[in-house]
Amino acid sequence: MKVLFATSEAFPFAVSGGLGDVSYALPKALRKKFVGVRVIMPLYSKIKQELRDQMHFITSIGVPVAWRSQYCGIFEAKYDGVSYIFLDNEHYFKRGGMYGEYDDAERFAFFSRAVLEAIPYIDFKPDVIHCNDWQTAMIPSYYKFFYFNRPGFENIKTVFTIHNIQYQGRYGKDILEDVLGIPSWAESLMEYDGDINMLKSAIESADAVTTVSRTYAREILDPWFSYSLDRILRAREGKLRGIVNGIDTDTYNSETDPHIAANFTVTNIRGKQRDKQELQKELGLPVEKDVPLMIMVTRLAGHKGLDLVKYMFDEIMKCKIQVAVLGTGESEYEWFFGEKAAQYPDKFKFVCDFNAPLSHRFYAGADMFLMPSKQEPCGLSQMISLRYGTVPIVRATGGLADTIPDAGTDDGVGYTFQSYNAHDMFGAISRALGAYENKKLWRELVRRGMSRDLTWDASAKEYMKMYSEITGK
Ligand code: GLC
Repeated sequence: MKVLFATSEAFPFAVSGGLGDVSYALPKALRKKFVGVRVIMPLYSKIKQELRDQMHFITSIGVPVAWRSQYCGIFEAKYDGVSYIFLDNEHYFKRGGMYGEYDDAERFAFFSRAVLEAIPYIDFKPDVIHCNDWQTAMIPSYYKFFYFNRPGFENIKTVFTIHNIQYQGRYGKDILEDVLGIPSWAESLMEYDGDINMLKSAIESADAVTTVSRTYAREILDPWFSYSLDRILRAREGKLRGIVNGIDTDTYNSETDPHIAANFTVTNIRGKQRDKQELQKELGLPVEKDVPLMIMVTRLAGHKGLDLVKYMFDEIMKCKIQVAVLGTGESEYEWFFGEKAAQYPDKFKFVCDFNAPLSHRFYAGADMFLMPSKQEPCGLSQMISLRYGTVPIVRATGGLADTIPDAGTDDGVGYTFQSYNAHDMFGAISRALGAYENKKLWRELVRRGMSRDLTWDASAKEYMKMYSEITGK
């Protein structure tokens, strides 16, 4: 089986969120199972020079963008045994950031077209092109329009994975012919609620559609979660499935992590105490062994459930607890946490940063991890927390529901609440604080969490099963 994994970001080259982590870890896990895999992504100018130095030039080609032909350089590099292909065009990818540019539709239409055009030059004829999120959502339709019967392109199947349904590649109809290069007679394939919608076209055209947890695959059939796409998803429900993400257990390993003060394991957890002390010192919190330290490591975005935290903040501060938040994002929340840090200097710290090594110290040093998301396709940080013996407190939605069974059940590893309601969240926090006082119970909870299988192994197998189903191989 040969899989070409098309993505707009991948660790360590360019990462803005969970997609970047998945685009590194899933191909690596597939390769371990002897699936031939190549990752293909844009060559952003912000990719670090030391990583660029490892790339070699393959060739350059012309890529059609509607009626124009644009330059595309093809480069390759190996990282951790996986081969990465980079598509270069400075006009499109020499920018400050990865997304949010005025011409994103054209930039990623170019990229999607270039992925297909590059295939004859990379010495890799895929059985499956696995596309991810709206930036690659044009690939399944482009394949059906322009490539399916071209020599060298026969019998390729396409998979489309939704990591974030909120971003759909939604534009006015004027981009159809002039930017996307799709003939006007095919407008109905691309159109949704009066706009051009790339995600919708992928749901129509791909051979299989997946999302990153089972619960979320069910939830997005409902308008509350779907950002309006539930109608088309219900119509195509037969090809939709949920496969939960894993985490890269080499990167997140309390036994070997170089970023933390003391390493520890499930059978020898003493190091975690030191990690807590050191984190308290680093943050300027009183060093108190018996006061539970609850953290959040998150993008400060509304759907992460920050309104619940805002609403309950002063109540939480009345408890025997220390809280620390690491993250950047919407200014409303940056301001709020900044102010609260000034108001409660001995109990609350806010680090307004996106900082991977520090996040490892947060995970290792904390007792509890709060993630009250409104929606969460999968979520990775609750799993990272488990790995570091930090007990998650989550809203039971999407991947959080699938990965964190409640402490009240036999295999429970965390505290959950159902409704998107601040008092329910506070109830879950209170239950966790109560349990923390019972040392034996808490140790058992931590042990169970640390022992859970969070590897990509099972998920990689499910992806392979799906690839076989659609290709018949
Ligand atoms: C997106 C989702 C997150 C998921 C990640 C990787 O960032 O919001 O829930 O874990 O993609 O699939």
